[in-house]
Amino acid sequence: MRHLLGIDDLSSDEIRDIINRADYYSRALADGRWDRNKLQHKIVLTLFFESSTRTLTSFDIAAKRLGADVVNWNAELSSLSKDESFSDTIDTLSAMRPDAIIIRHCEYGAPNFVAGRVDCPVINAGDSWREHPSQALLDALTITQEKGELKGLTVAICGDVAHSRVASSNAKLLTKMGANVRFVAPEFLMPQKLPCESIKCFDNLEQGIEGADVVMMLRIQKERMDRGDIPSDAAYFNNHGLTLERLKCAKPDAIIMHPGPMNRGVEIADEVADDPTRSMMKRQVANGIPTRMAILDLLVGG
Ligand code: NCD
Repeated sequence: MRHLLGIDDLSSDEIRDIINRADYYSRALADGRWDRNKLQHKIVLTLFFESSTRTLTSFDIAAKRLGADVVNWNAELSSLSKDESFSDTIDTLSAMRPDAIIIRHCEYGAPNFVAGRVDCPVINAGDSWREHPSQALLDALTITQEKGELKGLTVAICGDVAHSRVASSNAKLLTKMGANVRFVAPEFLMPQKLPCESIKCFDNLEQGIEGADVVMMLRIQKERMDRGDIPSDAAYFNNHGLTLERLKCAKPDAIIMHPGPMNRGVEIADEVADDPTRSMMKRQVANGIPTRMAILDLLVGG
């Protein structure tokens, strides 16, 4: 493994390897015992061309927990605002010889383009609606810790599936690992092309989560939609929001996941989001750190 650009590039053995290493770091963090100098003298450069709350901070903390120095490059303060081309910016940053580049970009395949121009490992922190591999890996760690294994589970991915890179990466990873993936979305939020043929599609939330082990909710990505296509929050919640009542259709021990940012009262009700035993949102955020430590360790730790 030289880069982490998308789930497509990973074999099921490589996925299992990363999850196992992430699980090791998750326990090591809880015990306070791990190699804090693993990435000493390594410089990790983060290039975020899109806003982010959890992913940027999570990579930053993960790298620092392993002793790396992190440089957070800021697109708004860069020469891109002086009309420098994207490729010249990348060549310039590459000439400074970072040990890894973590990139988020709105353009389809931008991390792959960067990987073709630089000498260090490149990690995709989310590009367009295509891929968000580290999110799918931390979700897989969370599900594995709760349910034991991914194989044979029914996972319903619900909401704005069409514009979601989280849905796409999760569907590919979970299918590869033997889970049964469903997409649950009204027609206007269902992708035209499915990432895997085996995915079953539903337009009704109750039917879509029937018997599910995992219910994963997604925000409506308004920034990727035409204004006219966006329904009112109240109408969307009425028809497609996850309430405690609707959740009764899933298995009684189903877990609820959400990559965040979450829009309460739109795709999810407060009492579901705050369910003390079944809601995994905080666990997912916490698991972001050991998962990204595992990724950095594998790619940069040598
Ligand atoms: C998502 C993203 O940016 O792709 N969030 C995340 O990284 N955890 C999902 C979103 O923006 O809705």
